[in-house]
Amino acid sequence: MIYPIVAYGNPILKREAEEINEGEDINGLISGMYDTMDHASGVGLAAPQINKGIRLFVIDSTLMLDEDSEEKGIRRAFINPIILDEYGDDYSFEEGCLSIPDVRAEVIRPEKLTIEYFDENWNLKEEEFSGMTARVIQHEYDHLEGILFVDYLKGLKKRMVKSKLIDVSKGKIPTDYRMVYPVK
Ligand code: NI
Repeated sequence: MIYPIVAYGNPILKREAEEINEGEDINGLISGMYDTMDHASGVGLAAPQINKGIRLFVIDSTLMLDEDSEEKGIRRAFINPIILDEYGDDYSFEEGCLSIPDVRAEVIRPEKLTIEYFDENWNLKEEEFSGMTARVIQHEYDHLEGILFVDYLKGLKKRMVKSKLIDVSKGKIPTDYRMVYPVK
């Protein structure tokens, strides 16, 4: 099932998401989230972006890496994740978001992280990720905390994207996937 994606300006994107009851059957939802992410050619999608305020995201970092890349990337769901630590060198990378089409900006984040989460079968895992996979996890994890990548922008850059953000929330930016715009 392909869900419409919530656009910037909808309050659910600014809200902290709720924990999911352990063992709850969310396989159908997860599969719909993969479908939605793939349909929109995204590398990650968090539940609040399909209007569900719960702590769940899916990622596919394999799409960001070419064949010769040392890093392989993963395609996986993260349920009730907790980032336990972030470390390594901070670096800047250009991010975008399916909820904020046509806006891209450099964001500085640490290179590596350790995360605890449940996988799709409710097995508890603790793993370390780095590179592009860590970057996508950090971006999607932020969605569960009600944080968007544009929230990190400051000064001139922030002023530059402001009118674009208004256009996004008004549905003035065309997308090749279906979006829901904030209620006026
Ligand atoms: Ni996003």
